[in-house]
Amino acid sequence: MLWFVASVLLLCVPAESANAIGWCYHIGECNDTTWPINFAPHCNGTRQSPIDINSSNVTINENLTDFTFTNYNNTGVLTKIENTGRTVKVSFASGVGISGGGLGESYDSLQFHLHWGNGTTEAGSEHTLNGVQYPMELHIVNAKSSYNGDTTLAVQDSSGLAALGFLIKVEPGTTDSPASWKDLTSYLSNITEMGQSATITHQISLDSLLAGVNRSSYYRYNGSLTTPSCQEAVVWTVFKEPIQISENLLKLFSTSVHVGNTSTPLMVNVWRAVQPVALPVQATKSGSSSIKATGLSLCLAALCLALGKR
Ligand SMILES: *[C@@H]1O[C@H](CO)[C@@H](O)[C@H](O)[C@H]1NC(C)=O
Ligand SMILES: *[C@@H]1O[C@H](CO)[C@@H](O)[C@H](O)[C@H]1NC(C)=O
Ligand SMILES: *[C@@H]1O[C@H](CO)[C@@H](O)[C@H](O)[C@H]1NC(C)=O
Ligand SMILES: *[C@@H]1O[C@H](CO)[C@@H](O)[C@H](O)[C@H]1NC(C)=O
Ligand SMILES: *[C@@H]1O[C@H](CO)[C@@H](O)[C@H](O)[C@H]1NC(C)=O
Ligand SMILES: *[C@@H]1O[C@H](CO)[C@@H](O)[C@H](O)[C@H]1NC(C)=O
Ligand SMILES: *[C@@H]1O[C@H](CO)[C@@H](O)[C@H](O)[C@H]1NC(C)=O
Ligand SMILES: *[C@@H]1O[C@H](CO)[C@@H](O)[C@H](O)[C@H]1NC(C)=O
Ligand SMILES: *[C@@H]1O[C@H](CO)[C@@H](O)[C@H](O)[C@H]1NC(C)=O
Ligand SMILES: *[C@@H]1O[C@H](CO)[C@@H](O)[C@H](O)[C@H]1NC(C)=O
Ligand SMILES: *[C@@H]1O[C@H](CO)[C@@H](O)[C@H](O)[C@H]1NC(C)=O
Ligand SMILES: [Zn+2]
Repeated sequence: MLWFVASVLLLCVPAESANAIGWCYHIGECNDTTWPINFAPHCNGTRQSPIDINSSNVTINENLTDFTFTNYNNTGVLTKIENTGRTVKVSFASGVGISGGGLGESYDSLQFHLHWGNGTTEAGSEHTLNGVQYPMELHIVNAKSSYNGDTTLAVQDSSGLAALGFLIKVEPGTTDSPASWKDLTSYLSNITEMGQSATITHQISLDSLLAGVNRSSYYRYNGSLTTPSCQEAVVWTVFKEPIQISENLLKLFSTSVHVGNTSTPLMVNVWRAVQPVALPVQATKSGSSSIKATGLSLCLAALCLALGKR
């Protein structure tokens, strides 16, 4: 056991080139409880992400208008999928971006990555909604277009980055669904070890991965990166509705990729816990109607199921 812990720690430390101490999710010596100490001054700051969003304690802001998503319908912009040892990251070609959405200016979309738990037995989203943690969360990272992809500059600006957070839950009664997620997860078996990457050859658009989510309906707050160095440079958008994928595809994340080589632990529970400082959260107008409608139809579906079982 001691040997196990020591060897995994060794792996954790050299994996971090920029910082002497390193950070991780899976070992006490470098997990998120240590970040406020090892990565002060940012990780111990006062606008840290993620947070719990309490939907009954948000302010409606009518300036939170629709986004314009550029090239999100383009099936050729996802270039590379990579195991970083802490997440699975997908890089974008240039020309992908967002504007509107109450953001002051346009932002370039650079990459997305995911946070997950352990299959469906342990949840793994970073943001929680009314105290509920979802199985997984997708983050699209965007930087102000004026920085031309220079994230070193962007993290020094309190609104230099705009992150789009999509909660992910299990779509009941489906397998290999949706097709976009089946295609995406088909690459996980090629990137089982840290540092491995694959070129994406399937035609997958961002729109197809985000299908089913009403992107006019979201929460907004000013927060931080959720990984060290936790710079407080992120305008957060968390969409009210989740992406739904089948359980078998969700489980592939916690059963395919490792934190190091294939002799090291599987990458599970790769998320930061909600932060203690409550931050003011705004919401788009009339967002509750679709949530209520979803709730009602779920109730009706449950009722139908119950009736059908008789
Ligand atoms: C796998 O990684 C561990 C920890 O870094 C290392 O001790 C071991 O030699 C590696 N195994 C292989 C087959 O490379
Ligand atoms: C981090 O490690 C510490 C020390 O082992 C442990 O008490 C804590 O529960 C861990 N936190 C997480 C989120 O795993
Ligand atoms: C974070 O830690 C740094 C360095 O220890 C300290 O100067 C700063 O006051 C701390 N910030 C907060 C909000 O506690
Ligand atoms: C919405 O925008 C208008 C015009 O810029 C501004 O006066 C107002 O304060 C904004 N409202 C909120 C809630 O930010
Ligand atoms: C993507 O959307 C833009 C703007 O709505 C449209 O002009 C373009 O034809 C669409 N491209 C594809 C491949 O559907
Ligand atoms: C993940 O869950 C599986 C069962 O689904 C369990 O066997 C395994 O020990 C769990 N791993 C961790 C690190 O919690
Ligand atoms: C949400 O806020 C309301 C009042 O603003 C409070 O009564 C409730 O306990 C909060 N819920 C959570 C999950 O924090
Ligand atoms: C993934 O690995 C399989 C075999 O394991 C191989 O046939 C396939 O070409 C690889 N795909 C990519 C995109 O690397
Ligand atoms: C975020 O910060 C900007 C600039 O200080 C401010 O105008 C805006 O109201 C803040 N947004 C929220 C949701 O607090
Ligand atoms: C409601 O949110 C504000 C921040 O906008 C926070 O100060 C307050 O504690 C929250 N109240 C509850 C009951 O959660
Ligand atoms: C999407 O959300 C917006 C804002 O909440 C709402 O006005 C609109 O009706 C919703 N659209 C659908 C298709 O539910
Ligand atoms: Zn993230």
